[in-house]
Amino acid sequence: MIGAQWGDEGKGKITDLLSKSADVVVRYQGGVNAGHTVVVKDQTFKLHLIPSGILYPDTECIIGSGTVIDPKVLIEELDRLEALGVSTQNLLISETAHVTMPYHRMIDRASEEQRGVRKIGTTGRGIGPTYADKSERTGIRVIDLMDSAELRNQLTWAIDYKNVILEKLYDLAPLDSEAVIAEYLEYAERLRPHVIDSSLRIYDAVRQRRNILFEGAQGTLLDLDHGTYPYVTSSNPVAGGACVGSGVGPTIIDRVIGVAKAYTTRVGEGPFPTELNGELGELLCDRGAEFGTTTGRKRRCGWFDAVIGRYAVRINGLDCLAITKLDVLDEMDEIQVCIAYELDGQPCRELPRSAHQLPAANPSTKLFPVGSNPLPTAAVWRICPSRRWITSSFWQN
Ligand code: IMP
Repeated sequence: MIGAQWGDEGKGKITDLLSKSADVVVRYQGGVNAGHTVVVKDQTFKLHLIPSGILYPDTECIIGSGTVIDPKVLIEELDRLEALGVSTQNLLISETAHVTMPYHRMIDRASEEQRGVRKIGTTGRGIGPTYADKSERTGIRVIDLMDSAELRNQLTWAIDYKNVILEKLYDLAPLDSEAVIAEYLEYAERLRPHVIDSSLRIYDAVRQRRNILFEGAQGTLLDLDHGTYPYVTSSNPVAGGACVGSGVGPTIIDRVIGVAKAYTTRVGEGPFPTELNGELGELLCDRGAEFGTTTGRKRRCGWFDAVIGRYAVRINGLDCLAITKLDVLDEMDEIQVCIAYELDGQPCRELPRSAHQLPAANPSTKLFPVGSNPLPTAAVWRICPSRRWITSSFWQN
């Protein structure tokens, strides 16, 4: 299950629905930049790393190797769930996931400040710098966290190195490596019972024919390779990312479910062709309660964008689409849907890939009257059972 827009599509709600019939839920990318709120009766759960499947006592929840783990936030999440009476013994953590360190958070925030007008609008949770270290092959993994000698060895070197960057480049106070090592050794003991070889565990579940849900965080347009680069996150939320980030082959995936809102939102910087800056944007924001779970930032709002919808179908090979928050549009007489862009005076049906072109794309919209019957709050549309679209006219147009 993946997000078909810029994240915040209401995936938590759909995961919650699907988790009822899932034996295993796997989170395969991202870190504590994600966030979803699940309300069960009178209790509200705010989750960043732990899949919401944890609320079902028999569902195994795996944080896969493609994720980045901030142990401080993860432990806070575990403690909060336990305090609310939710058992967390079914939570399993990949030993090959990378660990977010204090210097990652510091560098994320400082580099955003230094970028000035070129800032990405990150969540400031150290996600980009953690993935950068992974690519640079200087990252520290969960398996290193479990070995005190190895952790001391790696962290001493890493902190010496990062302190140069913190002090010389960003004019920040250096970190005390002994204090960080002591802090992370404590986290290691708390997390140790949950740490496993997650790829093997998932493979066993496949062989036992258990039902597995791979839960994407963020969304297609925030994908590092296929999103609106550079205004993206540093992982691969697209469906293909599920294989890499979980350590499974593509042949085990049966179906890909996309989730999209009936309108569009985006948080952070970057181009957004259907953005509504005036009263209508405010109205969508108010009615849809469009504020981020992780940072509390107000989300930018706009009409549904079918160019992006078609792109998400293609990039993810979507089989069906769950559309959420239809009820937010209930009281409107008519809604607009962007069916194409106009770029340099020419019609354009595909997403322009240049960071300079997309801001110049003007949406060509079509008006749709809102029916007199109340809309359901969410609907699941089959898109391509045989790779042919069989949905309503606004998709085909
Ligand atoms: P980062 O992932 O914190 O590096 O942020 C990079 C971009 O992704 C920023 O525009 C963030 O606002 C956006 N982003 C990251 N996580 C989420 C999410 O869960 N929902 C929506 N946007 C997100």
